[in-house]
Amino acid sequence: MATLIDGKAVAVEIRGVVRDAITKLRADNDLQPGLAVVLVGSDPASEVYVRNKGKQTVEAGMQSFEYKLDAGTDEATVLALVERLNADGKVHGILVQLPLPPQIDADKVINAVNPDKDVDGFHVINAGRLATGQKCLVPCTPAGCVILARRALGDLSGLDAVIVGRSNIVGKPLVQLLLNENCTVTVAHSRTRDLAEKCRRADLLVAAVGRPEMIPGAWVKPGACVIDVGINRIAGEGKTRLVGDVEFASAEKIAGSITPVPGGVGPMTIALLLANTVTAACAIHGVEAPDLFK
Ligand code: GUN
Repeated sequence: MATLIDGKAVAVEIRGVVRDAITKLRADNDLQPGLAVVLVGSDPASEVYVRNKGKQTVEAGMQSFEYKLDAGTDEATVLALVERLNADGKVHGILVQLPLPPQIDADKVINAVNPDKDVDGFHVINAGRLATGQKCLVPCTPAGCVILARRALGDLSGLDAVIVGRSNIVGKPLVQLLLNENCTVTVAHSRTRDLAEKCRRADLLVAAVGRPEMIPGAWVKPGACVIDVGINRIAGEGKTRLVGDVEFASAEKIAGSITPVPGGVGPMTIALLLANTVTAACAIHGVEAPDLFK
């Protein structure tokens, strides 16, 4: 049976380090990091994420600014809000919750955020910096995946990593992060031929496709580390059930280590978001950034 990778516990640990760093910044530098979260519309999953972000931001000792706009809000209004937050000295991180309604061009909004406040790491400037090995704000979910993989495997150098999924939010930035860890990286996607065979080569298998339980245990190399980014809501009797992109029951019998859903990658995303906000606040104020993880 695989060892469970307890993302929830690692996230608690990181949030503790972030909280201590903020206490010190407030005492020594009179600097209180602030995070602004913008939600357009009322997607239930997004509402839950935004509520949790706000709560954990305050618990960490930061200022939280929440903007909830109705689903029909036009693009110009969202862009004007982003401009206002860019200019607000109390705001060091800006996150616009995705997905956005269809009348709003998400790329335009993402690229309107000041790259220094882009705690999602989605701005084209941060994506370019990451791809070229420059200092940048790193997308939270893939950063969380790497931390969990390192906790399970130690040094990742030389490992065959297979990422299933090529999104801008997870798959693509994760390529860069795993290359930085000296992995040999394969990116598989919906058009990949013989996906099972590709997955079976992975020492580190990351599933980030958003398709419930699409990767069965039979596709996992014995002893591999499996990181499941998927959070899929399945309608069950009465209430909904959360499942990952990996079929957990069969995969845990083959893998060496595996993240559960929920309680794996999910909690890491917010922890890394808080860490990025501290990093952004320090950079904006010219204060040396604390080392928030290892
Ligand atoms: N929607 C799902 N994941 C994310 C994320 O990491 N950041 C933002 N802004 N929206 C999301």
